[in-house]
Amino acid sequence: MMSKWIIASFYQLFSQAEPYKFPDHFKFGVATSAYQIEGAWNVDGKGFHIWDMATHNQSHLILDGSNADITCNSYYKWEEDIDLIKNLGVDFYRFSISWARIFPDGYVTNKINQAGIDYYNKIINTLLEHNIEPVVTLYHWDLPQIFSPLGAWTNPAVIEHFASYARKMFQLFGDRVKMWITINEPRLVCQVFKGSIGDITPDFPLGIAEYLCAHNIVKAHAEAYHIYDKEFRHIQKGKISITVDMTWWLPENASSKEDVRLAEQNMQFDIGLYVNPILNYDYPKVVIDRVAERSRLEGFPESRLPKFSYQEKNRISGTYDFLGINHYFTMIVKASQEPPVSKSDIDIDSQGEKFRDPNWEPTGLEIFKVLPESLRNVLKWVKKTYHDPEIYITENGYADNREIIDDDERINYFRKYLNATVNAIIEDKVNVVAYTAWSLMDNFEWILGYEAKFGLYHVNFTDPNRSRTPKKSVEFFKRVTKTRTIN
Ligand code: BGC
Repeated sequence: MMSKWIIASFYQLFSQAEPYKFPDHFKFGVATSAYQIEGAWNVDGKGFHIWDMATHNQSHLILDGSNADITCNSYYKWEEDIDLIKNLGVDFYRFSISWARIFPDGYVTNKINQAGIDYYNKIINTLLEHNIEPVVTLYHWDLPQIFSPLGAWTNPAVIEHFASYARKMFQLFGDRVKMWITINEPRLVCQVFKGSIGDITPDFPLGIAEYLCAHNIVKAHAEAYHIYDKEFRHIQKGKISITVDMTWWLPENASSKEDVRLAEQNMQFDIGLYVNPILNYDYPKVVIDRVAERSRLEGFPESRLPKFSYQEKNRISGTYDFLGINHYFTMIVKASQEPPVSKSDIDIDSQGEKFRDPNWEPTGLEIFKVLPESLRNVLKWVKKTYHDPEIYITENGYADNREIIDDDERINYFRKYLNATVNAIIEDKVNVVAYTAWSLMDNFEWILGYEAKFGLYHVNFTDPNRSRTPKKSVEFFKRVTKTRTIN
């Protein structure tokens, strides 16, 4: 592994004298999400969501026991934050709407919170005044709490509520927002947070809940797409799709057919489960067959993976105008003994022993590594597997664990990943049209609390004013957006 990595890095270093220029139509952006930056968790009529509740009631789930009650306080500091965005010279800003800030009860009724609407209107209008395009995610994990006891995304009832919420957002903001992302990273929602967030108790229906969640999320996405397509597109003329996180899976031994097969199978369980029904048709065959086989061995009368009806497949297939990709991880898989049939688990369904190479170039955090070729490989894989869609890289960024302003490691990371992106565009002819740096500023990093820092801007979380300071990478990113080259 190590030697492969060294060869790849040398190749990259010496194979290009002059860095490529990004095409003129290419866009650069920066991203955040509502819960991670807004704070103001219980003011101005906002309702509670599953992360408010989990961080308060189950703080052991969060590495440093923290929460995002205040976090960057962007609810009050949004104007200053737009100045930071402006300073970067980016074309767009990707942020998310907090469902519970607009509909405090979660249900889409006439109980709508005007303060929430005003907040997002101010952001959208100010961005546009500065020529920065708003790219809006409807769901970045902060499900209104009301749906939690119902089983969150494992309950199909959520589909309808999400669709009604989406319709309302198009009505309220779609005259100005032209880029919509329905759902951020369904794999995290379904496979990592198991459809909600909370303790995974011994009786949690593993190997079932993940698939119910995936089934409902894919349908919810499709419903929101159809609402946009039918009721709004002809007037608002925007684009809508989903954002999926894409890990690159490597076979431990590239000359072992079984390892190679398992790498592809794990791509299909991680990515294809969500993307295939939308960009192709139905779940990937390998996922359908594998879950059916395991379910049969375990004595289930039917597969644990629900089936789409013929009508559903047709309704879901093609519901995208582009594909959003977040990329952070690389994993290795090797063939392993099949575990006993006593236990159901998506991790067993996807097969193989999974691990990371400790020799990979590190970041400040254990699970995040610097492997730019993985991004390029993911992009090529998407082109091949899904008929060359238009791709927005909606997130990519470097994880630090320190309070640092001279973040040369982040610059090194962005340089390499941007290089991988431009190589994919020019040499592999992948249709990538945008790159989004995660993140605008240090923020609440979910179960890692404030231990992980992805920001271009440093935030002082001990200062009541939450002062922001540009890191060295701000200057680097500004040069990229200005020159459209990596230097
Ligand atoms: C999420 C972000 C998160 C980032 C870094 C992505 O999975 O969309 O909200 O902060 O990764 O972990």
